[in-house]
Amino acid sequence: MSQLDEIHRRSLEEPEAFWAEVASDIDWIKPWSSVLDRSRAPNFYRWFVGAECNTCYNAVDRHADGGRGDQAAIIYDSPITGRKKTVTYSELKEQVARCAGAMTALGITKGDRVIIYMPMIVEAVVAMLACARIGAVHSVVFGGFASNELATRIKDCRPKAILTASCGLEPGRIVGYQKLIEGALTLAPDIVDSVLVFKREEAAWDLKSGRDHDWDEALAAATPADCVPVQATDPLYILYTSGTTGQPKGVVRDNGGHMVALKWSMKAIYGVDPGEVFWAGSDVGWVVGHSYIVYAPLLHGCTTILFEGKPVGTPDAGTFWRVIADHGVTTFFTAPTAFRAIKKEDPKGELIGKYDLSKFRTLFLAGERCDTDTLAWAQEKLKVPVIDHWWQTETGWPVAANCMGLTPLPVKPGSPTRAVAGYDVRVIDDALKELPRGEMGAICIKLPLPPGCLPTLWNADQRYLDSYLVDYPGFYKTGDAGYMDEDGYLYIMSRIDDVINVAGHRLSTGAMEEILSCHPDVAECAVIGAADALKGQLPVGFLVLKSGVTRSDEDIVKDVIAMVRDQIGPVAAFKAATVVKRLPKTRSGKILRRSMSSLADGQETKAPATIDDPAILDEISESLRKMGYPAKG
Ligand code: COA
Ligand code: AMP
Repeated sequence: MSQLDEIHRRSLEEPEAFWAEVASDIDWIKPWSSVLDRSRAPNFYRWFVGAECNTCYNAVDRHADGGRGDQAAIIYDSPITGRKKTVTYSELKEQVARCAGAMTALGITKGDRVIIYMPMIVEAVVAMLACARIGAVHSVVFGGFASNELATRIKDCRPKAILTASCGLEPGRIVGYQKLIEGALTLAPDIVDSVLVFKREEAAWDLKSGRDHDWDEALAAATPADCVPVQATDPLYILYTSGTTGQPKGVVRDNGGHMVALKWSMKAIYGVDPGEVFWAGSDVGWVVGHSYIVYAPLLHGCTTILFEGKPVGTPDAGTFWRVIADHGVTTFFTAPTAFRAIKKEDPKGELIGKYDLSKFRTLFLAGERCDTDTLAWAQEKLKVPVIDHWWQTETGWPVAANCMGLTPLPVKPGSPTRAVAGYDVRVIDDALKELPRGEMGAICIKLPLPPGCLPTLWNADQRYLDSYLVDYPGFYKTGDAGYMDEDGYLYIMSRIDDVINVAGHRLSTGAMEEILSCHPDVAECAVIGAADALKGQLPVGFLVLKSGVTRSDEDIVKDVIAMVRDQIGPVAAFKAATVVKRLPKTRSGKILRRSMSSLADGQETKAPATIDDPAILDEISESLRKMGYPAKG
């Protein structure tokens, strides 16, 4: 048996022994009484029960006081503003302790929730770590979400405070945050006591007396706070992610198991050593940002890059290579869509040659299916291993990957390689039978999930069961469909729910439908994901109008596009909708979204036997054709 197989076998057959050994890499305040608590099996499991620890201590103080004080912890690089800044571990400790002190002065203590709504600036990382330091539970909300989404999260997790900045910066556009926050606080009143605001020079903030506090002043006046012991099982953060409805799911992450898994992943999966420079080109608002911009690289004593820019246009398609060269990045992680954007602007990869990429070892891609063209282009132009790996907000770290720090395996285009240690991945059919290799089915993970994965949803154990566990008893349902080949390589082909993936961002078509159906002229609607050459998928809306509507179709389409942008945010990228006479349905009235998606993607679409009227699919096909679908490329 190879070393890799042996590690995987042991992680599944002797999980307690395996993870206890791995856990010795973390500094614990008090050891655990049980590595894996199975007392609420078969559905609920907890890791490192009884242990006390502090995530901020392990990510910051341990390095600041242990010989890495002068090493860069964060390199902030913003091609949008032209600003760069390096923060050492000692400086980070000082800033985090002050921010934690300022939060304590606002009455925030262990277990309180804090929403962080910030752009990609150092203060966002400081805010997250400061919460961890005092045991407050952060919930970071991505800046591309609008007031309504923010309000939904405020109502669900009931934060005492919001930590924010005066603006985010998109190319050519200043996104003022005050209006968005005021909007959210109007929709979700009487919950938030304080707003701590970092004022950026690009936008002002009108401080509301009694509620708002200036970041610089509050931190200057604060008494630095120390790390408090928390239970390994206490929540570190809540991160909301799209489900099938407009109500996002609050994925809970604990402290202990999360540290253990993330620290291990840095060497085993990413092949990175402490002291090296690691860059995840994502946003702190997404799980990739939580795990691989903030927690994992810092837990591992690496330097992490905080990049405020885009792969193209800030200023050009060479910006990634410039950052890699300037800061000596060894390992870079981004989404395939970013590479598709670069490939479009610089198809021959000519800008790559302008930079010294000699320290660059490996490119990791995740967030969406990696098409083989993008993989081949990246391999050919960068001449480093390009590793597709698969995971999701719920798991917090990779489920399947080519483990560069263990035994790298041959790359098979289209596959994120094999299940990582701790994950027992199976492909299952509707009769709950495991499928033979090569056959498509629901991709599930046998319980218990390894450390670091969600133990439940915030205040919603039943929703956790209903969303992930009831359909395949004994298994966690990933929501992805695919197959496993003879060598155990996984192929992740599509989602089995109403979740779509737009530019590596996970969005709910159900949430968009809920908004569309609120339009006074809309009788019913459907939103589907249609293949897009750049963003992977884009949402497309279909509207059936109420009878007697006098406004033009164009005006109504404009309205709904504005409504989605206003209520979900620009990140939804909802820009295409059309009015149709009727929607294709089964005889029992279920809208045939999957058939509509296949039509949009130009796939052969056979009307299901249960369809009410097959002619409607032709009408949909015609509407799609008028909108330019199936898209070219
Ligand atoms: N705050 C406010 N608005 C934001 C935002 C933020 N943090 N992030 C994105 N938006 C806005 C954009 O400005 C854009 O608005 P527009 O409709 O006015 O143009 C909209 O949301 C869609 O943004 P995005 O999906 O990022 O598209 P884009 O056209 O600006 O850029 C790519 C396209 C491919 C360059 C970009 O999507 C990208 O870099 N993707 C990488 C994805 C990634 O890192 N995913 C994380 C998982 S690893
Ligand atoms: P998120 O929770 O936003 O990280 O999105 C997770 C979803 O993105 C997964 O369930 C998949 O549908 C998709 N995804 C992520 N990585 C990959 C990958 N490497 N290949 C295919 N799909 C992926």
